[in-house]
Amino acid sequence: MTLPRFRPAALIHGSDYNPEQWRKVPGIWDSDMRLLNAAHLNSVTLGIFAWAELEPAEGVYQFAWMDEIIDRLHTNGQRVILATPSGAKPNWMAESYPEIRRVGDDGRRRVQGLRHNHCLTSPVYRAKVLQMNTLLAQRYGKHPALLAWHISNEYGGYCSCDLCKAGFRTWLQEKYGSLDALNDAWWSRFWSHTYTAWEQIDRLDGIHGAKLDWKRFMTHQCASFIRNEAAPLRTHSPDIPTTINLMPGITWYDHHTLGREVDFISWDSYPSWNGQHGENSPHWHLGLWTTFWHDHFRGMKRDEPMLLIETTPSQVNWAGVSPLKRPGVHRTANLLGISRGSEGVCYFQFRSSRGSSEKYHGTVVSHDGRDDTRVFRDVRATGELLHALQPIVGSLPRAEVAIIYDYQNIWTLNEMESPVKQALNHTSTCIDHYAPFWHSGVGVDVIEQSADISRYRIVIAPMLQMLLPGTAQRLSAFVENGGILVTTYLTGYVNETDLCFLGGFPGPLRELLGVRIEEIDALPAYRTVPVTATADHRLGLSGTWTARDICELLHAESAEVLATYAGEFYAGMPAVTRKATGRGVAYHLAARLGHDFHSLFAATLLRDAGITLPFAAPLPTGVTAQTRTAADGRRWLFLMNFNETAVTVAGAGGAWRDVESSAAMPATIELPACAARIYSAPATNQKNTTP
Ligand code: GAL
Repeated sequence: MTLPRFRPAALIHGSDYNPEQWRKVPGIWDSDMRLLNAAHLNSVTLGIFAWAELEPAEGVYQFAWMDEIIDRLHTNGQRVILATPSGAKPNWMAESYPEIRRVGDDGRRRVQGLRHNHCLTSPVYRAKVLQMNTLLAQRYGKHPALLAWHISNEYGGYCSCDLCKAGFRTWLQEKYGSLDALNDAWWSRFWSHTYTAWEQIDRLDGIHGAKLDWKRFMTHQCASFIRNEAAPLRTHSPDIPTTINLMPGITWYDHHTLGREVDFISWDSYPSWNGQHGENSPHWHLGLWTTFWHDHFRGMKRDEPMLLIETTPSQVNWAGVSPLKRPGVHRTANLLGISRGSEGVCYFQFRSSRGSSEKYHGTVVSHDGRDDTRVFRDVRATGELLHALQPIVGSLPRAEVAIIYDYQNIWTLNEMESPVKQALNHTSTCIDHYAPFWHSGVGVDVIEQSADISRYRIVIAPMLQMLLPGTAQRLSAFVENGGILVTTYLTGYVNETDLCFLGGFPGPLRELLGVRIEEIDALPAYRTVPVTATADHRLGLSGTWTARDICELLHAESAEVLATYAGEFYAGMPAVTRKATGRGVAYHLAARLGHDFHSLFAATLLRDAGITLPFAAPLPTGVTAQTRTAADGRRWLFLMNFNETAVTVAGAGGAWRDVESSAAMPATIELPACAARIYSAPATNQKNTTP
């Protein structure tokens, strides 16, 4: 079956829209139609959480309101991203079929309420979802307004009911064949956990392999739940692409696996703009982190566009402190999404809910119902801008650098009970490695460990503790063929069932990296260790840096030593190593080093990889440049200042022209606080270089 591809004709400017909440308020839909157009929105996401309004009692369907609103939207010039309503089940269903209510770790069945609280295994819930989705697909699958299917909402959480546990046991039987094999894979003789009957597999505490397999099973259940949801959509509207909205930093499921079930990836982005990202963290860190998440979600389907399907037009209701977006932020944050391959910007939500927990969430139209507010103007301006950016549709970010960010590895790190447990900070470590590329305007794909890496020049694998079967071979082939690989402390410790590699870490990467790890030191916050470049090596790094948190004590077996510890009892031991293999090279960073090291190191890697930067002069701190390239070579460059102060940027020269003013890029660009400029350049024959 050929799956439909997400190829919108125009950049999407959309919003979650819940007209079902307003059916009793006369005239409100009329006003919605006017306001949607006035805000320059061209699409809405409809029907999320509308189940109780579509099926108010079992088998009693009321589609008339949906028929009417879809027709009105169509007549009004809007496209519709139609949601399946499975993210929240109606009360009557929870009452009639208690088994669909989720069971917590404590074994208690949850009371009905809130949302995202159904069992993914329950055949009853699956049947109900299948039935509802079939009716929706039959009724609206050919509607000319339909742009895409939005399946459910933010899948998340686990259910521990008897059905799920029985499903888990069956899944394990298929995976391991025998209890003996399972006991070996889980090392369950530890603490006398040896399983002698499948029924004993119930609580998983203490057994890392079991917890890992539980997450895999739950991912498998969620993926099959999505397949069940998608089947009727694909049958009745084979040309309409499907998506799910994913969330950053949430690790219940392997999002890469879920992403394979749909035609394009969407994600929900809610940075606390103009607020605090972390203690003592500058504002631009929000821009950096948000770009990383864009690249993470886009990296799930690297050659496809994605969609920023939820973001707030102003504030959120759940953050405790959610400042108003300062001038410029709305535009710049949205352009960031576009620059990283989103084919549009969608909001949560269009009109403020009158009651309940989200009534104070930011919206396009607030309770005052006005179109002359600051937020409304910001939204309208975004709509106008996206319209002007029409030629960008179909172009994509390209990357020659990749960072591995792998859920299965993250699961093992999260479970890791070790001397360095408190210092792991895996995501921020990945972003420390990502940051220098962001500062240089070099595009990065953030990928899973089993992704094909042959297309990259540089691959960075921070803290890749778990090596799945095939990963070591893929990394070796990558280096062999000329790639530059960077690994760090905590690489190659465990296999796919979380069992430590015997014979020394980094396990199957020992030969490729040329190092053997003997011990790992955990540094309390008050202790740091200097690291000094060795006098004579080819990398050209010089200086002294500071190691924090984690220092591996390792032996360079066949690697060249580029830097050594210059303190502690392990002074003189290798801290940074390099080993050439075939046409490529593998670096290992044994300690957690700071930004000074990372920027110097990344500059060296980029130079060695022959990757040209879009701007010759360094960009000011907190400023990034991101590019999209069309199939015919036309390019767009987004220059974005995430500081709350103005900056001056040295222009890149070349053929870049300002998309909005048509002026050539000046020698000096003045960028106000949180401002963005967009430049375009015609096709050249050069690949990934300044025109
Ligand atoms: C998202 C969710 C939306 C809405 C929004 C509020 O996570 O998908 O339905 O609740 O948060 O910020």
